[in-house]
Amino acid sequence: MKSFTITTPIYYINDHPHLGTAYTTILADVLARFHRAQGEDVFFLTGTDENGEKIIRAAQDKGLSPRELVDTMSAQYRSAWETLDISYDRFIRTTDPDHVEAVQRLFSHLQQTGDIYKGRYEGWYCVHDETFFVDAPDGLCPECKRPLEKVQRDSYFFKLSRYAQQLLDLYESNPQFVVPEIRRNEVVRFIQDGLRDMSITRTRAENNAWGIPVPGDPNHVVYVWFDALVNYIAAAGYPDNPARLDQYWPAAVHIVGKDILVRFHATLWPAMLMGIGLALPKQIMAHGWLMINDRKMSKSLIEQQLSQWKQDPNAPLKVTSLRPGEIVRSLQEVAAIPDEKSAIAVDALRYFLVRDLPPGADAEFSLDRLVERYNSDLANDLGNLLNRTLSMLQRYRQGLVPQPAEGPMTPIIAEAVEAAGEAFRELLPSEAVGHAWKIITASNHYIDEKKPWVLQKESRQEELDVVLYGCAEACRVAAVTMASVMPSASREILRQLGCPGDPRETQWDHTGWGGLKAGQQTLPPEPVFPRIEAPRRDSGSQKDQRKDSNITDSTMKTPLSDSTAPAAASASSAATEKAADEISIDEFARVQIRIATIKNAERVEGARKLLRLILDVGDEERQIVSGIADQYEPEALIGRQIAVIVNLKPATIRGVQSFGMLLAADSEGKVILLQPDSPAAPGSRVR
Ligand code: MSP
Repeated sequence: MKSFTITTPIYYINDHPHLGTAYTTILADVLARFHRAQGEDVFFLTGTDENGEKIIRAAQDKGLSPRELVDTMSAQYRSAWETLDISYDRFIRTTDPDHVEAVQRLFSHLQQTGDIYKGRYEGWYCVHDETFFVDAPDGLCPECKRPLEKVQRDSYFFKLSRYAQQLLDLYESNPQFVVPEIRRNEVVRFIQDGLRDMSITRTRAENNAWGIPVPGDPNHVVYVWFDALVNYIAAAGYPDNPARLDQYWPAAVHIVGKDILVRFHATLWPAMLMGIGLALPKQIMAHGWLMINDRKMSKSLIEQQLSQWKQDPNAPLKVTSLRPGEIVRSLQEVAAIPDEKSAIAVDALRYFLVRDLPPGADAEFSLDRLVERYNSDLANDLGNLLNRTLSMLQRYRQGLVPQPAEGPMTPIIAEAVEAAGEAFRELLPSEAVGHAWKIITASNHYIDEKKPWVLQKESRQEELDVVLYGCAEACRVAAVTMASVMPSASREILRQLGCPGDPRETQWDHTGWGGLKAGQQTLPPEPVFPRIEAPRRDSGSQKDQRKDSNITDSTMKTPLSDSTAPAAASASSAATEKAADEISIDEFARVQIRIATIKNAERVEGARKLLRLILDVGDEERQIVSGIADQYEPEALIGRQIAVIVNLKPATIRGVQSFGMLLAADSEGKVILLQPDSPAAPGSRVR
């Protein structure tokens, strides 16, 4: 069976897992799951980097021994990854005996070949980056600008200089070794600038007796980077398990952040492997950073940013740290996801990180954006499609899947799946998700265009079957295609579609057309991603609306409630009541009317006449409740444009908040929605 070894960096345990480290790990998990779904024998490795001076200092700061610190923090990583549904196969710790053994054996091997020799080191050391520098004109670390420490001592050296040409040849002959290309170019420039031999030990005293002892010379311990990189082969069976090594080495891909690419993964690591004659990993993928205010997300920046978020009463998510678990909990709370479905919030975060932050470049992280994406992509696009499809199946076919029939969705799905698979294989998960999304967008358009409710009214049953089957298949295939990104949500979608078997076993070849069988019983829809009703943060703030409320108060109470005439009807009768009172143009101007596009529409439970509409009003999405359910099917409204009063005082109707009112004509007892006579940009002012 073809194997696929994928690794994350092993994380320093002086800090808690945060979104930055979660990002790397989620990317790797998505790729690992994708390859498992392809039937490959995947070995997904992650873990913690527990030696090194950083750890000793962190332990001292916390009043703990290094051992106590590494045990506690390593457990935190494991539990964070459990929360995020990370499907690693091994969690390696650099204090594990097999890792220690591997480092010592590799060290001895390179001593024997003459690649490691003993000498005297004089230079500079950056504790934060755990990196040595020979020159430091300003005494500051060239990478992080922190003060360097001067060091002078006996040391073992690795003959890195010897490998310069071999490394350049590697990059010349295998341009895909490091991706993306921009990173490869940085590596080549670094090597071309010249490589010096590298100090690869510290004295035992300097390191407070913490670290892996140099074999045969216990007064020295191995430098943390020289030690850490070895984890990749230790876990794959080096040195004593050739069968395992044969199966799982070389790694298919190391996923790393760009900060640890050039010096370590792309230079030192291949040189070490060349030294012991072991195959090089097939590829190294270096992603950019998650940024906050244009700077790499780090502990101090996160704290600064959080204090701003905390002061903002409209902040959508209430978080006090950027620990992934906390974000997930907050997301779960604002989206009202029940505890037993908390994995859905995890999936939403996974989706956001993968979709919104393509690995090539640095990307600004924002909680607002997370909520926006959640609502627009997950609650609206995906949620809508499933909801519309399942409710039509219930209404028109008692929930039973009709006879499979190819239709316009067949080639669209096939192309999207093909492209998504290709993108996953090319280590471009964000693009893969984009392709999978085409299935969802196209299906929503397909429904709008085919108007199944009209087909039903006109008894065009065969055509209706084609549409219903196409949409149900689209939901199923989208779920399978996205299973590596959102494993729990995919399972839930498949469950509602009534797919038999354990969807955990979902294999990529299930993306083929025709998986849903005729007569298969689907379930009534339950929202997989309940919408987040976040406080609005638009230009017309709540305060402004309150100021304006005198003109709308009287009209608000009646029109939207279930027992009275529909919204627009009452709005117009309220206007009639006041007809005798002329108003000035300025008074009229206080009523802000805008064009909105209906993104989602659904019935309000327990209220016969009410619909809950989600509108795109240009600069934001908002929800209104409207009493038009008698005359408009929710599915028929999605995608239509309407006119809406946007500065009406918010009201709560049957427990659902309404932030505005739509306009409609009240014509002979019927409600007729007002609609622009050609498409207008959402948010366009009406006057
Ligand atoms: N221990 C070393 C790695 C040894 S691998 C043999 C190390 N650890 S680290 O904890 O400091 O960071 C590891 C990785 O975490 C980074 O390379 C990167 O992949 C990820 N990230 C940490 N902060 C990040 C962001 N703000 N954004 C994206 N990734 C980030 O270096």
